[in-house]
Amino acid sequence: MDQQQAKHAVAQAALKYVVPGEVLGVGTGSTVNCFIDALAAAHVDIPAAVSSSEASRVRLVAAGILVRDLNEAGTLSVYVDGADEATPARQLVKGGGGALTREKIVAAASRKFVCIVDESKLVKVLGAFPLPVEVIPMARSYVARQLVALGGQPRLRDGFTTDNGNQILDVAGLSITDPSALETRIGMLAGVVTVGLFSRRPADVLLVAGSAGIREIR
Ligand code: 5RP
Repeated sequence: MDQQQAKHAVAQAALKYVVPGEVLGVGTGSTVNCFIDALAAAHVDIPAAVSSSEASRVRLVAAGILVRDLNEAGTLSVYVDGADEATPARQLVKGGGGALTREKIVAAASRKFVCIVDESKLVKVLGAFPLPVEVIPMARSYVARQLVALGGQPRLRDGFTTDNGNQILDVAGLSITDPSALETRIGMLAGVVTVGLFSRRPADVLLVAGSAGIREIR
């Protein structure tokens, strides 16, 4: 199974977690794009979706799925999203697509977070994938200096503005042995909107597609 086939397979496997009749949280990225396609093809009976990005909102609408604002939808039963890295403890690095802030909000507002990845994303220790940090533009240099002090090598994601009008620093060189502590530490820096560590609220279910099929980690 190549990576694209794995994305399709894990997207298909996530359909069983969708609760018919309830508004669904939908994440962002190429794996989630496969999920949106699978959702539309399966004609799952959901009244609407809440999207974690403009890109997914456009794709959902094109697939004929109504998109609602999270403030109107309230608590969601299920949120389906991908990740850039995932550990067997279901802690994640997210934000490769730059949607980390809305992703963290929708995950927080959902009772069950189902994360869908192919096996190339599964790691023992997070940090090989540069950690995305969304910052208020005027705080960019200050936050970058603090990240250097924490042992990282921050790099501005050139020419990229988030859906919230902010910038992203991608931080290389971190070996993240205590993801929850680092999530708190970076999250408390003035000017940081969101750090792409999802450890304090990890995924509830991690679906991993690989050559042996779909693995379900709970
Ligand atoms: C976007 C994300 C995505 O979930 C993450 O980047 C994985 O994307 P893909 O499925 O394309 O590999 O966090 O902000």
